[in-house]
Amino acid sequence: MVGKICGTGSYAPHRVMDNHDLAKIVETSDEWIRERTGIGKRHIIEEETTSYMAGQAALRAVEQSGIDPAEIELIILATSSSETVFPCAACEVQKTIGAVHAAGYDMNAACTGFVLAFNTAQAYISAGICKTVMVIGADSMSNLVDWTDRSTCILFGDGAGAVILRAEEGMPVHMAAHSDGVKGPALTELSRHRKDWDKENDSESYIHMDGQAVFKFAVRKVPEIIEEVLDQAGMRLDEVDHFVLHQANRRIIEAVAKRLKTDISKFPMNLEEYANTSAATVPILLDELNRKDVLKRGEKVMLSGFGAGLTWAACLFEW
Ligand code: ACO
Repeated sequence: MVGKICGTGSYAPHRVMDNHDLAKIVETSDEWIRERTGIGKRHIIEEETTSYMAGQAALRAVEQSGIDPAEIELIILATSSSETVFPCAACEVQKTIGAVHAAGYDMNAACTGFVLAFNTAQAYISAGICKTVMVIGADSMSNLVDWTDRSTCILFGDGAGAVILRAEEGMPVHMAAHSDGVKGPALTELSRHRKDWDKENDSESYIHMDGQAVFKFAVRKVPEIIEEVLDQAGMRLDEVDHFVLHQANRRIIEAVAKRLKTDISKFPMNLEEYANTSAATVPILLDELNRKDVLKRGEKVMLSGFGAGLTWAACLFEW
């Protein structure tokens, strides 16, 4: 059995901050941000929280799937920015959607989180442990960035996306995942480890990033892991219909497409609208493509996430 997507949903906060708004806070410009990243705006939470956004995305996925939430056996929620350490955000979602029979837990692998959670859900299904699993990616990056640091605050936004997987017969799902803790310092956010007596190190509690190191890592490792998954599947690159990649930066996605000698039209993007919502980028994009009817049954979809850890993962499945 494999997990087939039977419903998707997403949520983005109503408050929109475009590049011109940002230029009023830090020394930057719409032109610089668009040219270096492809980002035009980002949605930013006001009253919302990570678990609220996750719950709204989950409700929309349930509505689209037409399933009874009581059928969901497991909710895996990828996030690194839940408003509470515990209870986990997955339990909040369970309550919101009335998934009375579901177990739930959060997973943190930063921007790779959703793809790893998706792979985990597929493993539960192929092992015969679960038939119906909800996978969510949700992040409030606006709570983690230093709004005075122009090199990072321009990159991120807030949002959530959810998919529901149902066990069905079908093409086997192929997946891979890797980590490189040695390169962890390239991208950090240390707030949870700050001690009261360490308040002078407050700057540590925001995202710190070596942008060029992250860029180089992504453009090398993402093509590698895509090739690895294709080898495993015994498939060629040109048999993949859609490459749904983590939406960090348009230049990263363009460089990956170029390295794979694959037309950029197979790499959908929505980062102009949402910026980098970390674990939420892949499910938000999946929901958008699904609702626009871009993804057709039988088409092959490759997901790939990459980010802090450093971590990277990929998954090939049939829509
Ligand atoms: N506006 C204007 N100027 C800026 C800004 C800004 N927002 N940010 C930095 N600059 C300046 C720098 O100060 C520097 O000025 P200097 O030459 O006078 O010192 C100049 O622009 C060049 O800075 P670089 O950091 O070298 O710029 P670069 O071309 O590397 O672009 C960027 C920075 C966009 C972050 C790039 O490195 C990148 O895309 N990295 C990938 C990282 C990423 O996407 N991270 C997302 C989180 S991780 C993930 O999701 C995988």
